[in-house]
Amino acid sequence: MKVSIKSAEEIALMREAGKILASVHQNLAKEIRPGMSTADIDRLGEDMIRSYGCIPSFKNYLGYPASVCVSVNEEVVHGIPEKHRMIEEGDIVSLDAGVIYRGYHSDAARTVAVGNISTQAQLLIERTRESFFRGMKMARAGRHLHDISRAIGDYAESFGYGVVRDLCGHGIGSSLHEEPEIPNYRKFRRGVKLQPGMTLAVEPMINIGTKDVFWAENGWTVVTADGALSAHYENTILITEGEPEILSLTEEEKEAFGMAKA
Ligand code: MF3
Ligand code: CO
Repeated sequence: MKVSIKSAEEIALMREAGKILASVHQNLAKEIRPGMSTADIDRLGEDMIRSYGCIPSFKNYLGYPASVCVSVNEEVVHGIPEKHRMIEEGDIVSLDAGVIYRGYHSDAARTVAVGNISTQAQLLIERTRESFFRGMKMARAGRHLHDISRAIGDYAESFGYGVVRDLCGHGIGSSLHEEPEIPNYRKFRRGVKLQPGMTLAVEPMINIGTKDVFWAENGWTVVTADGALSAHYENTILITEGEPEILSLTEEEKEAFGMAKA
């Protein structure tokens, strides 16, 4: 497997792409309220991305028609924004977006609560995010890729959650999807050895019920097989000699989640 090692110049561009996407997510999350449509969310997100002079990488990617994937409740990922699909109080909404800054990509996802949500839903969101940070403890040069996968999967499964297996994280750089594929569950093989300069999009997708999913009629939207809630959390990261650099977090998030600043 050929996993590219980014140069200092490439890393600088990816840092900027990550920083921009972090603020897009922060600003977009604040706008989500009952009564708006998923298409409204996409429009807001696209406008924000373009306001930074970036290109929304998902738009027209393999025919995907929008800039922000909006996946509500039992929808896992790749929900297609629609004018008539309204957000309601109590929903959890997964927002996934990517930007291209001077040829370099960042990719990140957050699950947002709309008003008051159930304790179950809140825990799912928090634990999905925490599973990512469990993975980050393993994201160091000298360890292997699947150390990240195992840390994420074992943590999520300790709550009885279903860890989605049909979709994975991925390498990222001048393309949205590069090698390697990054599973969110334990693997028998250990995967590639991590090296400084690798840039990865790590993205646990965690279900309250079964890990099984199906693809909706539109060919894109991934839905839980049992109709139970699902959450998504994704960041673009850089492997370094020490702690990983999480490129798509705001400074506040780095503070809150205890990650070293850039
Ligand atoms: N973060 C998503 C992923 O890595 C990107 C969605 S691809 C799109 O799979 F086609 F939906 F845009
Ligand atoms: Co991704």
